[in-house]
Amino acid sequence: MIIRDVEELELIKKSADLVGKTLGEISKILKPGIIASEIDKIAEEFIRDNGGIPAFKNYNGYPSTLCISINDVVVHGIPKNQVIKEGDIVSIDCGAFLNGYCGDYAYTFMIEPVDEKIRKLVITTYEALYKGIEQAVVGNRIGDIGFAIQLYVERNGFSVVRELVGHGIGKTMHEYPQIPNYGKKGKGYLLEDGMVICIEPMINMGKKEVIFGNDGWTVLTKDHKPSAHFEHMIWINQKKPVILSTYNYIDEKWKVK
Ligand code: MF3
Ligand code: CO
Repeated sequence: MIIRDVEELELIKKSADLVGKTLGEISKILKPGIIASEIDKIAEEFIRDNGGIPAFKNYNGYPSTLCISINDVVVHGIPKNQVIKEGDIVSIDCGAFLNGYCGDYAYTFMIEPVDEKIRKLVITTYEALYKGIEQAVVGNRIGDIGFAIQLYVERNGFSVVRELVGHGIGKTMHEYPQIPNYGKKGKGYLLEDGMVICIEPMINMGKKEVIFGNDGWTVLTKDHKPSAHFEHMIWINQKKPVILSTYNYIDEKWKVK
């Protein structure tokens, strides 16, 4: 597990800011009728124009800049010819390297009008992320984060995906430790001052089980009910969690709550 000093934190924050601005650009062009690969192209150009390098592209052979995961796609949807439609929920996950450090986070966009139960799923996932973040302080354990997320999600009648988890981040996208979105209070690795982690709940409307698509990437719900996903990057310190990532560049009209 890697501890970051203040200088590194500033660099990670800059990478996070580039990802945030990319999500902001996407939020301007996202609308019914747009094709997933068009969004991906715009994101890649924006990242490169700003001196960054897409982090997902070529990662274990992944072909694109974004993961665009629509409705029953949980995560790792490859942007191809999918057409975004009214009523869809669209998780857009973006990663970029800048100055040698990685930013990686995600937002689920609701293409209005969205069914009320699906809206509740998206809002609950968003709120669950912040419940997890509250626990990300020195002295707590990784299980405290997962416990808070799982409790909130299950109380609202939804389920937590087990197969995919959050992670440490820094010079590479995935660093030790793993951050599950489920767990037991007081269990697991102790959180230490200076760690930077990604918390990324993937929450299903129906059952928690997922299946893996035959493109080697796409993760879908087994029952084909919708799934939502939000991700933030958090710096752990003695006082309170500091969110290094930002949704502030995303156009107001996409606000979840
Ligand atoms: N947020 C995702 C993750 O942490 C992004 C990785 S997608 C990949 O796993 F395509 F690059 F693998
Ligand atoms: Co991630």
